[in-house]
Order: sequence, then C-alpha cells, then structure tokens
Amino acid sequence: MAASQDKIALEMLDSEKIPKHIAIIMDGNGRWAKEKGLPRTLGHRQGMEALERTVEASMDLGVKYLTLYAFSTENWKRPKEEVGVLMNLLIEFVDKKINELNKKGVKVVHIGSKENVAGKVEKKICYAESLTQNNDKMVLNLAFNYGSRQEIARAAQIIAAKAALGETKAEEITEETVEKYLYTAGMPDPDLLIRTGGEMRISNYLLWQIAYSEFWVTKKYWPDFAKEDLWQAVYDYQKRSRRFGGLDE
Ligand code: FPP
Repeated sequence: MAASQDKIALEMLDSEKIPKHIAIIMDGNGRWAKEKGLPRTLGHRQGMEALERTVEASMDLGVKYLTLYAFSTENWKRPKEEVGVLMNLLIEFVDKKINELNKKGVKVVHIGSKENVAGKVEKKICYAESLTQNNDKMVLNLAFNYGSRQEIARAAQIIAAKAALGETKAEEITEETVEKYLYTAGMPDPDLLIRTGGEMRISNYLLWQIAYSEFWVTKKYWPDFAKEDLWQAVYDYQKRSRRFGGLDE
C-alpha cells in the first residue's frame, strides 16, 4: 500500500528520476459514487476529470508515456447502460480535449481491440490517433477494449501466421519478437504501475509489460485522485531499489 506522507511538494521529487512510463488502473469510480448515493455512471464522469488532471500533471512532471486503463475486454459484462456511458465518455473526451492535447504535443495511441467497438467510437479513436500521430511530448496510451491475454494471444497468432508463410522459424522467436506484436510495440515498459481503489490485483492489465514495474496502490478512489497523489507515487517510486532480478550495485 502507498506510504503515507503528511504533505508532498513538487520540490521533493528528483527531476532526474521521473519514471519514463507510468501505467494506471483507474479503479473505484463505482464505489466513489455509491458512497455518495449517486449512480455509478456519475462516478465515471467524475473519473474523467481525474483523468484530465492526471494527463496534465504527468506532462508537467515530464513523463514520456502514460497508459490509462479506460475499458477492459471484461467490462462488456457490465450493464448495458454503464457500457454505453463509458463509450460516450470516450467520445466526449476526444471531442473536448483532443485539440488541446494536440497543441500540447500529446500523441494519443489506442491500445486494445477494435472488435465489438461501435463504428462511431472507433472513428473517434482513429481521428484522435491520426491527428496527434506526429506529436512527441508525451504518448497517451488509452487502453480501451484492452485485455492483456487477448493482446498476447493476438501476438502469438501474428507470429504463427508468419511462421506458416515461412517468414520466421520457431527457434527464431524471442522475447523481442513477441514485444514487436504487442499493442505497445516500440515503447518502454512501465516503470511505475499505479492502482487506485485499494484492490491488490492486476486485472488483465499489461501482463507482459509490467514484469519489472514498481507497483503503487492507494485506497483513494479514482475520482479523488489529485496531482499530489501522483507526486506521492513518484516520490515513493524514487525511493525504491530496482534490481530487475539482479543485485544492488
Ligand atoms: C473502474 O472503476 C473504472 C472503469 C471501468 C472505467 C474508467 C473510466 C474512467 C476513468 C472515465 C474516463 C473514461 C474514458 C473512456 C475516457 P469501477 O467502476 O470498477 O469502480 P468500482 O470498483 O468502485 O466499482
């Protein structure tokens, strides 16, 4: 669980050790709403504001890749109305924020499957991606209709098809080959994985990519996540000793 700190200030962070890639599981929207006697969907709406705040705060810190879990392949099991609200929030997010993000140099990338996603949602995602494709200040990966097992199975299918065509041989398949066919191809692995809402699980998120990510969990629900929470996560991350299976120097 996250270390508790009275008050965190930006000056407490080491600007030389800002994580290059932060991934977030934005959990707790439903519980946030329930505790206030509000419909779950209002929790998602409030969650979108936290998302916008976090994108800003990450850019200000100099984070290069921010990956946000907005809709999982398992979220289709939720009531139709809730799924509809999440789809509409994505459209709204693009409509409201894409020009500003583009101006700030954010490159939006969709990670996930386009399967089952309604045409109007897919179009918005493609628009956001094509508008921002040449930006290089920060990559914002929107994990939408994303499931890590689906991602890995898809990579295996592509590699098997290449092998069947004689373009590769089984013994030539390495970790780098698999990485090449993940949605995150060419990106560094997350240094820091943040989960709000207190649950201690991975929920089919970036299973391959988080092999050596530092995990930081807060009980705070996502709609309450503030820039100071991000700073706290980064502060705690900077105190960790990352050994990647090796030993301290
Ligand atoms: C998990 O909370 C959150 C989600 C499934 C959706 C996350 C969506 C947003 C932050 C809004 C912005 C969305 C888009 C598409 C840009 P939960 O509902 O599982 O919370 P609970 O565990 O309290 O029920």
